[in-house]
Formats: sequence, structure tokens, C-alpha cells
Amino acid sequence: MRWPASGGILFGGDYNPDQWPEEVWHEDVALMKVAGVNIVTLGVFAWSRLEPSPGQWDFAWLDRVSAILRPAEVLIDLATATASPPPWFARRHPDALPITASGQTLDVGSRGHYCPSSPAYRRAAGRLVRKLARRYSGADAPALWHVNNELGEKVVECFCPTSATAFRRWVQDRYRTLDRLNAAWGTDVWSQRYSAWDQIQPPRLGPGPLNPSQRLDYRRFSSDAHRECFELERAILRRYTPDVPVTTNFMGPLSEVRGGFFGGIDYWSLAPSVDVVADDSYPDPLDRLGHINAAMNFDLMRSLGRGRPWLLMEQAPGAMSWLPVNPGKPAGRLLLESMQAVARGADGIMFFQWRQARSGQEKFATGMLPHGGTRTQTWREIVSLGATLRAVGEVAGTTLSADVAILIDWESWWALELGDHPNNELTFGEVAFETYRALFELGVTVDFAKPAADLSRYRVVVAPNLYAVATETASHLERFVASGGTLVVGPFSGIVDENDQVHDGSYPGAFGDLLGLRIDSFWPHPTESWSIAFGAERSSARLWTDWIELEGASSVATIGSGPLDGRPAVTDHAVGLGRALYVGAFLDGDGWSSLFRGVLAAAGVHVPDGLAPGVEWTRRSGGGVTFDFFLNHADHEVRVTGVNGRDLVGGTELSGRLQLSPAGVAVVRSSLTETPVKREVHDRAPRRRGGSR
Ligand code: GAL
Repeated sequence: MRWPASGGILFGGDYNPDQWPEEVWHEDVALMKVAGVNIVTLGVFAWSRLEPSPGQWDFAWLDRVSAILRPAEVLIDLATATASPPPWFARRHPDALPITASGQTLDVGSRGHYCPSSPAYRRAAGRLVRKLARRYSGADAPALWHVNNELGEKVVECFCPTSATAFRRWVQDRYRTLDRLNAAWGTDVWSQRYSAWDQIQPPRLGPGPLNPSQRLDYRRFSSDAHRECFELERAILRRYTPDVPVTTNFMGPLSEVRGGFFGGIDYWSLAPSVDVVADDSYPDPLDRLGHINAAMNFDLMRSLGRGRPWLLMEQAPGAMSWLPVNPGKPAGRLLLESMQAVARGADGIMFFQWRQARSGQEKFATGMLPHGGTRTQTWREIVSLGATLRAVGEVAGTTLSADVAILIDWESWWALELGDHPNNELTFGEVAFETYRALFELGVTVDFAKPAADLSRYRVVVAPNLYAVATETASHLERFVASGGTLVVGPFSGIVDENDQVHDGSYPGAFGDLLGLRIDSFWPHPTESWSIAFGAERSSARLWTDWIELEGASSVATIGSGPLDGRPAVTDHAVGLGRALYVGAFLDGDGWSSLFRGVLAAAGVHVPDGLAPGVEWTRRSGGGVTFDFFLNHADHEVRVTGVNGRDLVGGTELSGRLQLSPAGVAVVRSSLTETPVKREVHDRAPRRRGGSR
């Protein structure tokens, strides 16, 4: 693993000196030292300053600011600045501007205005990156390269003529013959059979719904186009600076959406190309469950890097600026949210941005150094966060381990949300969020995994929704169960193959045998909730239920109202050494908790006992030392018992008891050979199978 050296936790933010007169730079760096900043992302949107007109370069300002940062020991995460081409580029290459499905051109004045398939864009970006990499190599090389910015943030799919040509090449590569393409897209429906490659267009607009298999391929093609842009830059950087790690910032919850993973790009396909996984996290400040959304995304980031430490590249130090109303952060929240990322495996905490801008679209997005300067609460909290990160620096390099994985598959997610389904309100993010939330509230750490990945290290695997699944992947999951794993499958899964064509036979075609049941028909209900009975416990389901016929499975929970009253809602099927459970309903969080409590206990997964509601607990360990993180999300003081060791945040020795004020955080170090921090946490049942990380 390549990690920009720092000897502790990285701390810093985006730094845009190109927006400020030079006399401010000295003050910036002096204040960075006060706060303990040890890394900045430099010049993310500086292309028009680096290349003010075609082929005319200006690196002098970058040299000068680097010469102030380096002696101050502030590491440089140097951006390649390719996310926002200058106006001259757009005027010279109007055909590189993105075009929407309805034919509108997206022009300059914002950012992200380029078509990812455009050869002109790729050439110009490549030229810029080559110039940067040549100049900043050897002793002048940065600690980290930051490619582009949030790939696909503004334009996921472009529908311009260049994209159409590239898409034709992409489908030719994938299908080789038109017969195969016609079969995969099911073009005999509505008379769409293609007789020549040049008839194929991006799925722009039609009089009615467009072919879903074609749309699914367009999502794949667009995701690949962004990945290719990344890889093109990385190849150049590698050539000139082979030892400098390369990253780009992935995205997490973008405000209001629960289960807000970024859907534009298949991160499983991009992640292996980055040396360091980096994340931008902006959970909705008004969502009372926003911290669960954030945790879910942090766990995904750790999983994308196969458990290695990752970098929180951006978060808001205070108010954001793009919501209709942008509240500030209550006192303590900045520490709590930052330490939550560390608790889930981050070894670096960074912000957008160092100094709050005076102009532009984001001038009201609070900076680490806000408009009010060092007299503000935000600044005081930033300085205090810097001190806390130094105090917990020894956690850097340690890792988490999980016995439970949640499956996420971007391609299936895209297919699920293409419309024309029994209930188009069923979204991947929402079902995933409910399953994650139940596990989070039980205090269980989970990884995310790709369905086709090696799952043998996990005791329990949850597929909240796997609408589209290839037969081979279904067989892979069957083997996981047969060799002793527990698989929990959520509603509307195993229905179609990778081309969005319904699997043969009864629903759920790919999983029928594994789950030991047949779905007679889907019973979505648009508004009302139905009651679901887990023995004596009651919960409810909305949006979705199935008419299930058992064929080997037994019923674990039943529908308790509506036309399917008395029929199974949740089923359990023993297969080989393991079990496959099916949840044929959009269960609420309580329903998932009832289910998971039993499933986890039976699988020997430890559930920490006695964690007060609102307290988040995780454990990082390495080198014979454990660090237990306790974070209080409740709005009142809480007490945790059975905690022994040194609290690195408070600087105190704990013997048995920890008090946490609202937004309070403790990181308790203990040695694995000593008395366990929380006896109930350490008392793990021996693993039945699988390896460990
Ligand atoms: C991110 C972006 C940053 C900044 C931030 C805050 O999406 O990467 O450049 O715009 O949002 O608004």
C-alpha cells in the first residue's frame, strides 16, 4: 500500500491559493501550522491559471506557493486540475462540451463541462498532466497526486455525437456481432432490430420508455469512460513519478438521499486503479440519521480499498452552500463527524476547504478558516480537532475486521432503477440503508462486498437487493451458503440476468432453488404499510411484498394484514452447511433488527451487549493493540461500562466506566493480552469457517 508519509493522521483541506493575493499565502501557512495541518490538496480547479491560453503555461505561482508549504512541512496533494477546462478550451473544442439526453449543451461558467469520451478533452487533459508530472517530479514531487475531482459529479452520461461514436465502439467490443447485440437487448420487442452498427445511438429521448438493456449498457459505457479518463492520467503520472501514490476523490452521501452512495460510477471497477481510496462526505445536516448514512459510506470506502486505511478528502467544516437552507454545525459535531471516519478506518481527515472563498458559487460554504477568521467557533474547533488527531495518531495503520458483509453491485442497482417495474419506488439505496441501519444500531461492523468477490471470510452476507444477477454469480453465492455461510436476500432479487432479461422459470429465477421457494406474484403496495409478525414481535412492510409459495424453505415471519394475510414474508432454507433467508418485503428497520438478532446469534457473530442507543462503537487493531472508538450521537450524556484502558482523546486512564457528553468521543487503547476493554465485545465465538484479513 502506498500512503503519503506523515507518521500519524493526515489533516488538512483543499487549498486554492490561486483565488487569493500572494500576501495571504504566508498567513495561510502560518495558520495551518497553528491548526496542525499537515497536508493540502492544491489547485483542484486551477487549469485556467496553469494554462491561461492554449499551450501557454504558468507554473510560477505554483512553484512559489509550494516553496512556502514545503519548509512548513505541509504535504502537497497536487491536483491535476482536469475537472474544469478553461473557457478557451470550450471555444476551441465546442464538440467536447457535454450534451444532455434532451440535446442541451452544457457550457462554461460552472465546472465539469466536458464529455468524458471526447478525444480533444483527453488530449488536452493529458498535455496538462504531462506538464505537471514532468515539472513536479524527483525532489519536487508531491506526496500524493489528486486526479480530476469527483469523477462524474456533474456529468455522468453525455449524449453528444462523440459519445455516440464511442458507444458504438464499446458495444462492438462487448458483443462482436449484431446478432448477439440484438439478443442481449431483446430488440424484437417493439421492432428495434439493428441491421448495421451505425444505426445504434445513445438512449437519448423517445416517444415512450427506452430499451432498458440498452440503457443499462449506456450506464456501463459511461462509467467506463470516466474510469478511462482516470487511467489515462494515472499512466502519465506513473511514468514521471512512479513512487507517488495516485488518488481521486470518490463520493458519499450527497445530502438528502438516504443510502446515498454515488450511483454514477461503478466504484468496484475504479477502486483497484487508485493507490489510496479517498472520499467526500456531505451527509444532510438536518437528517437525524445522517450519521448512519455517513457510517455506511465510510464502511464502503474501507471496503473499496480492501480494508486498507483510506482518506476522508472532503467534508464540511460548517455550513454547506447548496441546500435550500444551510445550517451550521452544532458545537462538537466537527470532531464527532471526523472521528467517525477515523473509527471506520480513515487515516486522514480533510475538508473543503482551507480558506472560505470570497467569491463564486460556494462563498457561503464555511472554510476551516471562515470569513470571520480566527475569532470563529469553527476555527477554534478546527484547532482542537488538529490536536485530537495528533493525540490519536498511533491508530494510523490499524484496521477493522467484520464478520458481516453487505453486497452492493452498481450494475444491478442501475438495472433496478430503470423504471417499468412492479414498484418503481423501490430503490437500492433505501433498502440498503434499512439493512445497514439495523446492523449499525446493533453495533455490528460490516464490510461491503461485490457479489462475485471471495466472501469466505464472512459469516453472514446480506444482499439488500440483487435484482440483476448473472447465473454464475448466483452459483457463487450458492457455494458460499453450501460451505456454511448465511445469506440474507432482500426483495425483488435474482429476477433478471446481466442483460436485464428475466431468468427462466418462476421468480426468483436465479435464487429459487437456493431460497427454497417460488414467488407466485409480486404484491407492491403504493401507500399503505402491512403488518409483519416475527412470532410475537410486530413490524411492518411498505412498498413491497411477495406472494410466496414455500418449496423447501420454512416461514420465519408472516404477513399480518392485506390480501396476503397469513402468507410467509420472511423464509429460511437450510442448504449444505449454511442457510439462505429471503425477505420478500420492504421491511422497516425494526423488522430487519428482529431478523438480524436471530441470524447473527445463530451464525456466531458477536453483537455487543449493553451499548446505549445513540452510542457508536468500532474497534481498530494492529500490532497487538486495540483501539476502541466510542462516539455519542445522542443529545444527552451516556455512560458505557466495562471500558478499561487509556482514552487518547481525554488523556485519562479508564477503569470500568466511560462518560460521554453529547457529541463526546473516546478512543480507548488497550493491549489484546490485557483484560478486554469490553468483555462482551471480546468474547467472540470461535469462527466456524473462512479466513481472516
Ligand atoms: C464537493 C467538491 C468541492 C466543493 C464541495 C463543497 O462536491 O468536490 O470542490 O464544491 O463539494 O461544496
